[in-house]
Amino acid sequence: MALITWTAEEFGTNISVADEQHQNIFSLLNQLDDAVKSGDRSATGSILDELINVVVDHFKTEEDLMQQHGYPNFAAHKDAHDKLVATCADLQKKFHAGEAEVTPETTQFVKDWLVNHIPKIDFDYGPFLNDKGVN
Ligand code: FEO
Repeated sequence: MALITWTAEEFGTNISVADEQHQNIFSLLNQLDDAVKSGDRSATGSILDELINVVVDHFKTEEDLMQQHGYPNFAAHKDAHDKLVATCADLQKKFHAGEAEVTPETTQFVKDWLVNHIPKIDFDYGPFLNDKGVN
């Protein structure tokens, strides 16, 4: 069963590029969760790397849009992104060094982060960017 499912009702920001990237992140997180639960360490490592790259690209997309349009809550939003990236980069380094494992608790942590962040933090830029002509 999928760990997380994207629906427009629950996760739609009304910014198409963000919605597409969020759906890709959800898909990779589900793949990562499947690899973790099947005990496939090699697949876990490659999906983890891809997921982190996609998340970093997504954060840059949002941050560029917010900065280009003078979004007032940029600093707090970027801070939330930076904290997650630091946590994930630390785990990624330790995983590849054989010093840590990705577990079902890890994928649940990322799910919880997304379920909190997108509706509470990302949703705030939707109307602001829509007013600037970004959809
Ligand atoms: Fe879609 Fe702020 O992450």
